[in-house]
Amino acid sequence: QKKTYTEQYRPQVHFSPKAHWVNDPNGMVYFNHTYHLFFQYYPKDIIWGPMHWGHAVSKDLVHWKELPIALYPDSLGYIFSGSAVVDSNNTSGFGKKGKIPMVAIFTHHNPKGEKAGTEVFQNQSIAYSLDNGATWTKYTGNPVLKNPGIKDFRDPKVMWYAKQKKWVMTLATKDHITFYSALDLKNWKKESEFGLREGAHGGVWECPDLFPLKLNGKTYWVLVVNLNPGGPNGGSATQYFVGSFDGHQFTPTDTQTRWLDYGPDEYAGITWSNTGSRKIFLGWMSNWEYANQVPTAKWRNAMTIPRDLHLKQSKQGIVIASAPVPELANINGNTSVSKNVLVDKTLDLNAKVNKLQSQYVLKLVPAQLKGYTIKLSNKKGEEVLIGYDDVKGQYFIDRTKSGRTDFQKDFSGRFTAPRLSTSKSTDLTIVVDKASVEIFADGGLTTMTAVYFPNEDYTNLVVNVDGMLKLSTLTITGLKSIWK
Ligand code: FRU
Repeated sequence: QKKTYTEQYRPQVHFSPKAHWVNDPNGMVYFNHTYHLFFQYYPKDIIWGPMHWGHAVSKDLVHWKELPIALYPDSLGYIFSGSAVVDSNNTSGFGKKGKIPMVAIFTHHNPKGEKAGTEVFQNQSIAYSLDNGATWTKYTGNPVLKNPGIKDFRDPKVMWYAKQKKWVMTLATKDHITFYSALDLKNWKKESEFGLREGAHGGVWECPDLFPLKLNGKTYWVLVVNLNPGGPNGGSATQYFVGSFDGHQFTPTDTQTRWLDYGPDEYAGITWSNTGSRKIFLGWMSNWEYANQVPTAKWRNAMTIPRDLHLKQSKQGIVIASAPVPELANINGNTSVSKNVLVDKTLDLNAKVNKLQSQYVLKLVPAQLKGYTIKLSNKKGEEVLIGYDDVKGQYFIDRTKSGRTDFQKDFSGRFTAPRLSTSKSTDLTIVVDKASVEIFADGGLTTMTAVYFPNEDYTNLVVNVDGMLKLSTLTITGLKSIWK
């Protein structure tokens, strides 16, 4: 297995399939001490095609083992995105001999219907597994939720609403969300709609999620809605709403558009089910603008680092703060911690980085709120710039000169995100892999993800400032490859 994971651009600390095309994470569920990750997969090529559900498992959200394909296309169509639940009470009746069923709820996308232009080619179906997700049986009564005549009708995310002892399905229906409920995962009835007037509408609504999170003892409901195109930096992105949910209807606290990740390369992100009050989010690390063109040869695209979600107060009211899961420390290598470091125009960290693997976590805690630029570069003069612009109050990632950028016209560019914190103190954590960076600023209030394709690995790391900047702490932790 080792050899296959050493290609140029192969993520060393992110999940990617051994070969071929991947998009959205699907069916993420925690069951029997195992995190399951299914994913939109086309096993015959490195471009999007008839969709299957690929499958990988992990004990710690960091090391992944790829398993055989879980769901194949059939006479009802391709297997589009969806979710999975643990049916502990056997409400579906799929359980046998005391075995608890895992149930997958997904969209059947019928390409023939699409060709014929019937508008009803996306329907919701289910399948179950009694052997920890190894093999799946599709329900003979599929589809369980028929299309009422709307072109985009997909990506069911199902959760157990304990108060009313029923399942709630959050479904993306073109330009809004439709909620359904069922007692048995089979007979779905419409509850309500949301979003015709709220949020960003630059594209189609896809891959939603609904879950509760607490802040200061109070429960809020978060509704995640992926949008393509129409993201804050172009193309695909993840917006969300904070509000309340009563088992029937979602009511937002306001109509502001909030973004879970402002970078160009986090999409279709949703959370694991069956993890109790912990909410763990994972996105696809790409963008539909160029996902089919990025310059890898054996596989195409990868997932983000799993992230823990919390609620916090900010300039935009209550928002989500994201943090890489603490389990990432399972692959920590050498760590270097420096206190009270003075950056006088430039601070060269090459010596530190060269001792590490090419993937690492860098954490800066500036003593004052001032602009700075972190530069990753190689001997060819290719570079990615990451930093904070204190005049505009914005974080940025600039991959204009990052290497191979000409495979699509919008790939090259400088991407920005607002600083949402009102605090005088600040911090920035960046997770660097072979060909990607994820930034978590101000305790994760502002998050950005971007991929890049240098002609040669970036081995230089410097911090540049106008004048001087004191860093209270500077930590660099090398990360070991998850494939070794
Ligand atoms: C989002 C998406 C989903 C759909 C899937 C198809 O990236 O378009 O809406 O189910 O990808 O692969």
